[in-house]
Amino acid sequence: MPSVEVEGLVKFYADRVAVDQISFSTREGEVFGLLGPNGAGKTTTLNILCTLLQPDAGLVHVAGFDVNKQADQAKSAIGYVPQELSLFPSLSAWDNLAFFGRIYRMDESDLRLRIPEVLDLVGLRARASDRVKTFSGGMKRRLNIAVGLIHRPKVLLLDEPTVGVDPQSRNFIFEHVELLKAQGMTVIYTTHYMEEAERLCDRVAIMDEGKILAMDSTANLLSLLGGGLIYVAFEKPIAELLPDLEALPFVRNASQDSPQSEPVPIQQRAKIETQDANRTLLALIEYCLAQQLRITSLQVMEPNLESVFLHLTNKQLRD
Ligand SMILES: Nc1ncnc2c1ncn2[C@@H]1O[C@H](COP(=O)(O)OP(=O)(O)OP(=O)(O)O)[C@@H](O)[C@H]1O
Ligand SMILES: [Mg+2]
Repeated sequence: MPSVEVEGLVKFYADRVAVDQISFSTREGEVFGLLGPNGAGKTTTLNILCTLLQPDAGLVHVAGFDVNKQADQAKSAIGYVPQELSLFPSLSAWDNLAFFGRIYRMDESDLRLRIPEVLDLVGLRARASDRVKTFSGGMKRRLNIAVGLIHRPKVLLLDEPTVGVDPQSRNFIFEHVELLKAQGMTVIYTTHYMEEAERLCDRVAIMDEGKILAMDSTANLLSLLGGGLIYVAFEKPIAELLPDLEALPFVRNASQDSPQSEPVPIQQRAKIETQDANRTLLALIEYCLAQQLRITSLQVMEPNLESVFLHLTNKQLRD
């Protein structure tokens, strides 16, 4: 049974669609990445999974429970670590955990067992009785994760857990995601950071404007790009030269797409998908010399998730 199953999910805010017909499912012990720029619909999707928001259409099951019809069971199977911290600054770490545990109707004897366990898990046992307002940003994030885990959920939703976090806490969070995965938990992880997704996620869904544009293992997504992308701008329009560019060695496709931010008119630009960027570049320069065609800008992008994203959307992930 998939741990999370989403089919045809739609969510509107007034007349603007925030999530537009997305479908995916996750397995136990899988880290599933939701990757996308600001406003892609990541947080909205997580809010529906944890029953904070009602979908307008579609089916969502968590651990086999329908989030609409069996909201209580679905809620207890899911732990949510929101993008914004939700902690009581004047309470201790222990009392914060006890508060949230009671919301999940955990009894006191169970809480006395479970609180030290989750504090250990996030490395805050020694700070259990300190007030949260004395914690660093990274420590607060880690406590926020402990809150999400207090009721032993099967699925953990982490919404951009490393934003505003120091490198040490960031590594700590990575290691703990890997540990939770090894224990069989499903983790859904949203981020703008491609390198985090590459490191942590078994599979990644690339989201933009409410839609999933691609969903696969990182390796398979990278193979969409072969040997990389070359963006090149010329001093004059080049539409009639595209077939020549496509005939260069190792080129898979040449088109007039380009990153949105580029100031040069699109008629003067080309995007070249290649199996081998170095060899294609060499031939491209020779071709331009022979044609007396001046290159005005040139950008080579390695095949990583960032360039896959750019390739799919023609947008940079971050401004
Ligand atoms: N409460 C709300 N009321 C109206 N519109 C909203 C609300 N929350 C989100 N939206 C809109 O829905 C879309 C998706 O927002 P969402 O917060 O899900 O994106 P996100 O992928 O989490 O972005 P970010 O990376 O910035 O956190 C955006 O267009 C946003 O403006
Ligand atoms: Mg968000």
